Amino acid sequence: MKLETTQLILRDCVEADWRSVQEYRVEDGYLRYHPEETSSNERAREFVQMVMGWAAEQPRQKYQLAITRASDGVLIGSCGVRISSPEDREAEFGCELDPREWGKGLGAEASRAIIDYGFRALGMHRIWAHTIGDNLAAVKLAERMGMRQEGRLRERQFFKNRWWDRVIYAVLEQDWHS
Ligand SMILES: CC(C)(COP(=O)(O)OP(=O)(O)OC[C@H]1O[C@@H](n2cnc3c(N)ncnc32)[C@H](O)[C@@H]1OP(=O)(O)O)[C@@H](O)C(=O)NCCC(=O)NCCS
Repeated sequence: MKLETTQLILRDCVEADWRSVQEYRVEDGYLRYHPEETSSNERAREFVQMVMGWAAEQPRQKYQLAITRASDGVLIGSCGVRISSPEDREAEFGCELDPREWGKGLGAEASRAIIDYGFRALGMHRIWAHTIGDNLAAVKLAERMGMRQEGRLRERQFFKNRWWDRVIYAVLEQDWHS
């Protein structure tokens, strides 16, 4: 599967992608809001294998795509919609980008394409996301996608020597189409 935007091509992952994934996951800042202290080759390999497994499922429920630059094909992140309740037409959204590419609007460009795919092609009614409340970039990205905050799970996680709130955001099909 492939989605094209102005600057990006979103495509299914292939096995060799783990190297590019690992390359950006060790960049400064990437793990700031994650419990892990470091990223390993093994975890990057497992991630790519997991995503490829999702792509092979029948019927397919999870669309986690590699974000690549249209200009040179370099993999700079991943984004996805993963159906969490088929009967309720609900999917979970997530996006991660190479820190060297942050702040250029690419997260929003990729997210718009995959969320639009979720509503138009997959017929979802509700697309939701959760993130760490202090992760301003992720919160702003959710808001830019028209998502509204629906809840705040106070002190939901403990890592890096402190408690972190998790926030839940969602957008409905009627909001997306209007
Ligand atoms: C979340 C993430 C994908 C955003 O990607 P990005 O390409 O930098 O985002 P964009 O440039 O498209 O900007 C989207 C919005 O976030 C804002 N933003 C981006 N970085 C920000 C930062 N460090 N602090 C505050 N706001 C920020 C932008 O100003 C923009 O908001 P606006 O529309 O109000 O101007 C990226 O920061 C990332 O990969 N983070 C690590 C992984 C992660 O935390 N993913 C989400 C967890 S669910």
